[in-house]
Amino acid sequence: MKTNLSVRPSRRTSTARSLDRMIKKLGAKKGIDVSEARAQLRDKLKELNAKRALGYLAYHGIIDLNLPDGTTVAILPDWHIPAHDKQVSWMVKEWLRDNQPDILIIIGDAVDMFGLSRWPKAPGVIANTQHEYDEVRRMLDEVIRLSGALHVFYILGNHEDRNRRTQIDPNANVSGLIDPNTKEPFLNFHNLMGYTKSDPITFIYGALGEGGMAGGLVVNGDIDFIHGLKVRSKPGQSPAAESDNSGRSVWHGHTHRLGKRSRRTTKRGVIRSYEGGHLSDRRHAYMGYAIKPNWTMGVSKGCVHGGKLHIQLLPILPVTDAGGQRRHAMVDGDKVYKTAVY
Ligand SMILES: [Fe+2]
Repeated sequence: MKTNLSVRPSRRTSTARSLDRMIKKLGAKKGIDVSEARAQLRDKLKELNAKRALGYLAYHGIIDLNLPDGTTVAILPDWHIPAHDKQVSWMVKEWLRDNQPDILIIIGDAVDMFGLSRWPKAPGVIANTQHEYDEVRRMLDEVIRLSGALHVFYILGNHEDRNRRTQIDPNANVSGLIDPNTKEPFLNFHNLMGYTKSDPITFIYGALGEGGMAGGLVVNGDIDFIHGLKVRSKPGQSPAAESDNSGRSVWHGHTHRLGKRSRRTTKRGVIRSYEGGHLSDRRHAYMGYAIKPNWTMGVSKGCVHGGKLHIQLLPILPVTDAGGQRRHAMVDGDKVYKTAVY
């Protein structure tokens, strides 16, 4: 098996050097089988987290993540907690528990941050910012525990970026103060949820601390994970436009549409473009801007084989079962996941 195992930031830092040493060590071992490689990845991430060698509870920029064959990944799209679909979220948690992915990628907009939104709020709609931080933290902790993931990569979306736009940027005099407990900048999104460097999660911001359009994750040098910026009207068009721009494969969120395109190019082989849907409740008061959207709920999973991350989009569809009950359903392999009600 080709040994291809690394986790490193794209810039040369002490973190990168530390991770490179890990790669060298693993690369020296020839002929390791998949389970061994995965066990090593697990041990190494644990060790690095324990030593804080990852050194970035938060990272600004692009992280290169190289995973060995056999590594499994689950990708969660725009969740918009606490305006998420509660029934569907229970189903997704069941799916994560069954799948036990090695790596979890959260593509951004996991929290709505309605309380910090500058959009006009309808009378009677309660915005409670503390509740939003509490709810998303609770959900993240739950999915980390249930999924058994070794590490979570949380790419910030434009909704998390509301925190920067409304709290950090206008308060430059105090926004950089360090929280004495977590040692993180006080007003940063991840700090307000109370995460510390010992937690198995990395928050990926843009190079200037922004969310939404800048930071991301590159898996095996082949596919870019970004929250996304481009919005096109038809499912699959937005990531295709992104790939046209970058010449690379991409998985992004942001649009809440679910679709994929692939095409073969002369220089880079097959370029794949995915947008992964959403898990929000479009009837929720926070989603007042969503009028007849062509959104589709879904999750995605992947497995590395031959050095490439192969990805499946799993749509979550409204169905009416034999008894006339309306539900949401998702099929993964031969298992049918269903919500209790619609
Ligand atoms: Fe979103």
